[in-house]
Amino acid sequence: MPVITQNELWKILEEQFCGDVLQSVSLTGIRSGKEEFPQKYLVRPIVIKKEVRLQWTAYDLQSRQTHENLSRKKSLEKIKLLLGPVYRSAHLKTMLEDLQIHFTKKEKVQLRRHQLKEPAQAVSREHDAQKKYLFPEGTPCPFLIATGVMAPSGKVHRAMYRKFRQINRFAEFVYDLREHFPSDRPVRVVDYGCGKSYLTFAVRHLLVEKLGLEVEMLGLDANQEVIASCLRTQKELRLNDIRFELAQISEAKLEPPIDLAIWLHACDTATDDALARSVQCEAHIILASPCCQHELFKQVNSQALQPLLKHGILRERFAAMVTDALRSQLLESVGYRSQIIEFIDLEHTAKNLLLRAIRSDMNPQRQSEAQATYESMKKSLGIERFHLEKLLCKNDRVS
Ligand SMILES: C[S@@+](CC[C@H](N)C(=O)[O-])C[C@H]1O[C@@H](n2cnc3c(N)ncnc32)[C@H](O)[C@@H]1O
Repeated sequence: MPVITQNELWKILEEQFCGDVLQSVSLTGIRSGKEEFPQKYLVRPIVIKKEVRLQWTAYDLQSRQTHENLSRKKSLEKIKLLLGPVYRSAHLKTMLEDLQIHFTKKEKVQLRRHQLKEPAQAVSREHDAQKKYLFPEGTPCPFLIATGVMAPSGKVHRAMYRKFRQINRFAEFVYDLREHFPSDRPVRVVDYGCGKSYLTFAVRHLLVEKLGLEVEMLGLDANQEVIASCLRTQKELRLNDIRFELAQISEAKLEPPIDLAIWLHACDTATDDALARSVQCEAHIILASPCCQHELFKQVNSQALQPLLKHGILRERFAAMVTDALRSQLLESVGYRSQIIEFIDLEHTAKNLLLRAIRSDMNPQRQSEAQATYESMKKSLGIERFHLEKLLCKNDRVS
């Protein structure tokens, strides 16, 4: 094995402990005379309150575990005290390579690096691996069973795990907004492009079964087959507070008030149609996870951004970000407080943004400032047409 100096070793550890590709570190090969230390350590990055920490799990001779969560800096100090003086070997697994470190009898440091053929999957950094979901695995939940996410035993089907996480995450956002919902009349909810209606059933379950509210839900989709599937599921679950409608978002009959407008992955400008309809109906809360924005791909243009725009993949991502930023800005201009936030970790899906907008008191000055900022951004990026703007202007003419 190649030999490195102690300084080179600390440099490597520093790089790994401060970077974002580290998956685990194990310390083994305890030296004789050091029995007061744990038999081995396993260290892995976790996220607590949005901060990366390293969780040190100590194993004793009976494999009993104790945990300690340390900052990256403290972890580096700790490994410097342990690797060499107490443990002879360390094995670092990262997303890109494996590193084996060994202290020889002559106290030389050997290092073997093994590059992975393909980057490893990111491991979950959630502190509590069994995250507490609103609809947890292991607890049979009628709508998750009926939509094929969960087996009757409560076990989530592996192929549906991503959907299971999306549903739970979306429900958390709705739960956080619970104070906004009326309790003296049914909460009126629209799910645009509902597909198989995982979300419609989930939000209904949350509002009715968990929060004790009444609802009037509407699931809209332009696909006949998915609406037929939704109606079958509804029948199976015997729910009479949901209505499904086969319609284009732009043409569906919608009646105000709408308390909550939701959609998950309505493709391309269908998101704009849903936003415009929501604004038209003065929806109180909008929660939308957009997907595959193509409208601005060809339009975005800026001399200063040529080094970025000349790369197709960067242009695509940039255009998608600009689309969401302009949508949010337009919502501000018509009286919403609007934010773009992370919906789900990037490691689970590239479609990881959520637009959250809440209708607020109309403030003409703030609205016109928002409109001016929108215009300025559009102009600076050479954008001439934006679907949502056109739809909102049409709304104005109608009213
Ligand atoms: C990617 S799927 C998402 C389905 C569902 N929201 C989910 O997350 O499971 C998009 C759905 O939106 C529907 N859709 C797309 N454009 C639409 C439009 N303009 N009007 C109505 N439905 C539309 C499609 O038929 C499809 O069922």
